[in-house]
Amino acid sequence: MIQVMEPKKLKLAILASGRGSNFDAIYEAIISNKLNAEINILISDKENAAALDKARNRNISAMHINPKNFENREGYETELVKQLEETNVDLVILAGYMRLVGHVLLEAYKHRMLNIHPALLPSFPGLHAQRQAVDYGVRFSGCTVHFVDEGMDTGPIILQSAVPVLQDDDEDSLAERILVEEHNTYWRAIQLIADGKVYIDSRKVYIKEG
Ligand code: GRF
Repeated sequence: MIQVMEPKKLKLAILASGRGSNFDAIYEAIISNKLNAEINILISDKENAAALDKARNRNISAMHINPKNFENREGYETELVKQLEETNVDLVILAGYMRLVGHVLLEAYKHRMLNIHPALLPSFPGLHAQRQAVDYGVRFSGCTVHFVDEGMDTGPIILQSAVPVLQDDDEDSLAERILVEEHNTYWRAIQLIADGKVYIDSRKVYIKEG
């Protein structure tokens, strides 16, 4: 069993490809003193990501790294890791980062990289998780915060939060209600790590009580 982190104020990097509402929620949790962390850098693979503007408006260092400027994923991730190491971050937070993570990034941040997925994993991994849940006819879906491993949404689970699926839900209405829970759940998982309460034993996460 390994402790992910001794209790400390965490330095975070956010990786985001889009609108950045999970970034907003994590930022709000920090400024309202619920989350003992600081966001040291936001990096996006998309030049026009709204998340980049949101970071700049908050005087958070914001950087676009274009994967197309590199020969392959290894090259791109080597640059990403260089920036993350220069910033000396403790945790890498994927927040709507729409790219599969390769071995270069994984090896550098094993057990130190988190993702949020809009379904109760292991159900409905991958794209359009909310549509998958509606189409399948489950009564509950929700969100999952997990460590990132080499699979697609397969890493050890830290927290989950359930959301009922209503009879007349479509992908958008369900996504909207799940998003509310995402915003409540992501910072709590990060705070558990900041409190030194999170331990991993192969694929299982244990959270110290109290
Ligand atoms: C969220 O639904 C998250 O679960 C998924 O991508 C979406 C990102 O939304 N991984 P935002 O960019 O944080 O608003």
